[in-house]
Amino acid sequence: MTLWQGRFGDASPAKELLAFTESLSFDRRLAIDDLVGSRAHVRGLERSRLLDEADAQLLLAALDRVEEEMRAGSFAFQPGDEDIHTAIERRVTELSGHVGARLHTGRSRNDQIATAARLFTKRELASTARRVLRLQHVLLDRAQQAEDSYLPGYTHLQRAQPVLLAHHLMAHGWALARDIDRLMDTRRRLDVSPLGAGALAGSSLPLDPDAVADDLGFRHRFENSLDAVSDRDFVAETLFDLALLGVHLSRIGEEVVLWSSEEFGFLRLDDAYATGSSMLPQKKNPDIAELARGKSGRLIGNLTGLLATLKGLPLAYNRDLQEDKEPLFDSFDQVNRGLLALGGLLTTATFDTVRMQQAADTPTVAAVDLAEWLVGRGKPFREAHQVVGGLVRDSLARRVPLAELVEAHPDLGTEALALLDPGVAVSRRTTPGGAGPDAVADQLKRYAHQLAVDASRLADL
Ligand code: ARG
Repeated sequence: MTLWQGRFGDASPAKELLAFTESLSFDRRLAIDDLVGSRAHVRGLERSRLLDEADAQLLLAALDRVEEEMRAGSFAFQPGDEDIHTAIERRVTELSGHVGARLHTGRSRNDQIATAARLFTKRELASTARRVLRLQHVLLDRAQQAEDSYLPGYTHLQRAQPVLLAHHLMAHGWALARDIDRLMDTRRRLDVSPLGAGALAGSSLPLDPDAVADDLGFRHRFENSLDAVSDRDFVAETLFDLALLGVHLSRIGEEVVLWSSEEFGFLRLDDAYATGSSMLPQKKNPDIAELARGKSGRLIGNLTGLLATLKGLPLAYNRDLQEDKEPLFDSFDQVNRGLLALGGLLTTATFDTVRMQQAADTPTVAAVDLAEWLVGRGKPFREAHQVVGGLVRDSLARRVPLAELVEAHPDLGTEALALLDPGVAVSRRTTPGGAGPDAVADQLKRYAHQLAVDASRLADL
């Protein structure tokens, strides 16, 4: 028996139709949100006197029972259940007898699914943001433990200038702070109840979508019923937020891959967070980091796939919209697992700060400090750059240590030579937001403060 049997007579839907169009295999994940929406709908019908108190109680009791069955895993799905909404309505009707037929009064699956999907996404956005915050805390802890250790900072993957390890770690942390902000921003915009839009045009019945929105904890009700049932911006935005978050995890992953290679040797992975090779006994592989990188492709695919689905759709609901769910669930799942796995990896990894500092103490990374030292003595920067560039070229061509050339140079000499001593260059990065110890100590405070602000924002949700 389908929901639309009246129009279709006795013929039942073809097997192939059901097999191709069903969504129960994945949308059962929306069961609890569908029940929350249905309860609010029943209460709304009662307030509008479309249901008397006794019938409303029967329906609410049946919905509670369905929730128990869902949570216990004892809910029996039937072959004819096309999606989670159909399955729940069928079961409510079995449990409540004739009143079951009143549940769908003034409602369509179109506003019903939009409501359940928004409830789901609203909750998951907050939960993912909390996981992001935990990873930020891992970065904070590691940054604090790093004290004044430094490593080369790179541009074009060429050694450029030394930076504190804490500075490098927090660079990733600030990207994650923007992710939290973005997730919260999307959550704020999706906080609109579509319930009461009906199939597309509202209702002739005396429904009160404002009161229902309130009951569901949404900040607003829809402004336009056509928009309410066809809008999936909130899914697209969520997929974008998760894709960009995934890109950030991918960039962390890429650095873990590089740093844990023998060539860099900056990082040793804990055994529990690395994998071995089935053939090569010596191998220890950074699979978590590689998959953080690899899965970002899939997250981007989920976003672009949905945008392609949406772009040609006329108003209002079209069945194409059912294609929003699998990417949404998948992106949340992948990102959530990635956040946890990378958090574990970064908590347990060991930084080889000796290797890092050796790499950063090659004299050439202090080249700009030599030039800036000359600027401090009145030389225009372009000329200073020219002088130091010439010394570096000379040192490489004639295989003479840069230090010797600096010492012998009439404009430089022994005072400038001290700039090449280990750890000196990084300590000279004193400007706000810069890579040296004082600026980074200040940054650590600001970063910790940002985490506390976000923690309290998330606690209030
Ligand atoms: N399973 C559908 C979806 O996920 C539910 C809405 C179906 N509505 C309809 N009129 N066929 O989008």
